Amino acid sequence: MIVLGIETSCDETAAAVVTDRREVLADLVLSQQALHRPYGGIVPEIAARSHLDHLDRLIGEALAAAGVGFADLDGVAATGGPGLIGGLVVGVMTAKAIAAVRGLPFVAVNHLEGHALTARLTDDIAFPYLLLLVSGGHCQLLVVEGVGRYRRLGTTLDDAVGEAFDKAAKLLGLGYPGGPEVERAAARAGDATRIALPRPMRGRPGCDFSFAGLKTAVRQRVAALAPDGRLDDRDRDDLAAAFQAAVADVLADRTQNALRIVRVERPEVGVLVLAGGVAANRALRARLETVAAGAGLRLVAPPQRLCTDNAAMIAWAGLERLRLGLTDGLDFAPRPRWPLDPAAAQAGQARA
Ligand code: KG4
Ligand code: ZN
Repeated sequence: MIVLGIETSCDETAAAVVTDRREVLADLVLSQQALHRPYGGIVPEIAARSHLDHLDRLIGEALAAAGVGFADLDGVAATGGPGLIGGLVVGVMTAKAIAAVRGLPFVAVNHLEGHALTARLTDDIAFPYLLLLVSGGHCQLLVVEGVGRYRRLGTTLDDAVGEAFDKAAKLLGLGYPGGPEVERAAARAGDATRIALPRPMRGRPGCDFSFAGLKTAVRQRVAALAPDGRLDDRDRDDLAAAFQAAVADVLADRTQNALRIVRVERPEVGVLVLAGGVAANRALRARLETVAAGAGLRLVAPPQRLCTDNAAMIAWAGLERLRLGLTDGLDFAPRPRWPLDPAAAQAGQARA
């Protein structure tokens, strides 16, 4: 089986071709970061227009790189949500057009399921597993029971973890997107312990997260260290390292609680998966590896380029759904909000 995947939910235009033998035949990502950088964040209208400008060409290039034509495809998958509606419409309409013209099945993929199933593409792991999903819009601990079957153990009560990295970077005068910049500054730092920062939720029962207080603390430290808002290099790097260490401590603590729950309720779980853009962070990967090992589990984190947004994960999730007959009609409407575990989302906790 060969599936074309399309990703347009945020600020990456991406197209990929993946097979059921877990081969990534093509994986093209066109980042819009340069377009959004002057605004310090993503401008939805600019994102949608750019997807429209580049997607058709990128799909052609992906097929050429994979050495296949439309006639070789067994299905077309596109991110159907969650994400920015303008971009979702571009990707979904393009996928539907290909499906309609070529008589192929269409699969609308939940972007979070793309992240969640990537470890099965890269490492062939079996269900069930524990997933720490850390991205620009989400921070969740989930038991992945199967394709389309997720049980959420915890989520963030306020900011997503990638969002916290991006906001901290802005406060520190670092560029956008903030995660990689904070990681680089932290690696340069002389002392990660010089500046004290809080560890929100650490030591509390349950698996929920909160990052708003940490962001506020960074703002206060910046104000104290540099009343004019201009940090010197040493303060900036030490504060970046302190922030990254605080995030690592919180993620480790919450994941340990989840591992305790899983040990009782799903003792067959042998793998902790770290996925989403923030999973590209080396320090966090190392920390979660220690946490997993402490509980006798293996950590699986996809290679960095498959942690941040890409279309290989969408093609793969589409392929997994296609194999199970889980296709979508051409009347599918993109979903700006689309929780992985609807039951948990309805329970009234913060974001989906
Ligand atoms: O999964 P992703 O590419 O897009 C969403 O689905 O949101 O995640 C993007 C997020 C951004 O907030 C970005 O700052 C963060 O992932 N990120 C990182 C790193 N690389 C990307 N955060 C920390 N360290 C990194 N190396
Ligand atoms: Zn993502």
